[in-house]
Amino acid sequence: MAQDPAHETVEFNYSTYEKYYRQPLVELRYDLIYRQRRIADLLDRAGIDPGRPGFAAFEYGFGAGHLLRVIANASRVVAMEFSPSAVEKGRRLAPEGHPSWEVRQHADATDLPLESDSFDLVTASHVLEHLEQDDDVLDEFIRIVKPGGHLLIILPAHEQLFTGTKHLRVYDVAEFTQRLRDRGLTEVIVDEHQRFDRPWKHHKVILQSRKNKLWKAAIEGSKAALFLPPLALTWKALASVDAVLGRVGAKSTSVAYLFRKHKD
Ligand SMILES: C[S@@+](CC[C@H](N)C(=O)[O-])C[C@H]1O[C@@H](n2cnc3c(N)ncnc32)[C@H](O)[C@@H]1O
Repeated sequence: MAQDPAHETVEFNYSTYEKYYRQPLVELRYDLIYRQRRIADLLDRAGIDPGRPGFAAFEYGFGAGHLLRVIANASRVVAMEFSPSAVEKGRRLAPEGHPSWEVRQHADATDLPLESDSFDLVTASHVLEHLEQDDDVLDEFIRIVKPGGHLLIILPAHEQLFTGTKHLRVYDVAEFTQRLRDRGLTEVIVDEHQRFDRPWKHHKVILQSRKNKLWKAAIEGSKAALFLPPLALTWKALASVDAVLGRVGAKSTSVAYLFRKHKD
């Protein structure tokens, strides 16, 4: 019997990410480090301080843990992943003597074993596009946010799906923003960023690289650059490059949606 394509993608993701997070160099990818700094800055701009006494933070699908590092100083951190290799890494990221660091394997984000209204910040970065029931997942995330707390969802942007993708769907910025508003959340910041890795996300380039060995070598070779720490660039310099690319019309590859849950 033919398998459901969405289910196939989930299985493909499981084995891909399981191998991926066993690589030692993942943490050094500068696109991920850039996103980490950018999100730390965004929280700061919104006046959200995870270090505030009593702050509780939850992350779903933390991967190599870049965002987990941003919320690491919260009084309570709960983080879940479906990839066991990421879970191993996430456990090791606990700051010494952290009072409440809970990292577990969990594969069903539509059903989180957590109390309602219990987190000041609930976040998932580049995860929703992999999940089959993204609407149910959003509802579940919002359920566990405290009234007055925040939901931070980060998604790929302006992508086109092609055969073999790890993503189940493409999100339109205006449409996704509206989806969050329709759930009664208040927009705080919608931040489009990370335009400098567009060539590696361009579906025509990727498709070419599958057909032609030379293209494949060129793409894989240049992708290796993502693993080099930005030796000459601080994240602020990279942010300026990002802004300039935005001004000349380059499309972002990532969007952060920060929304607040109503108090009553
Ligand atoms: C692109 S990575 C993002 C990792 C990290 N949050 C980041 O921003 O770098 C997607 C993550 O979603 C998780 N994931 C993929 N498919 C999933 C599924 N069906 N259920 C639960 N988690 C899934 C993977 O384990 C992976 O860590």
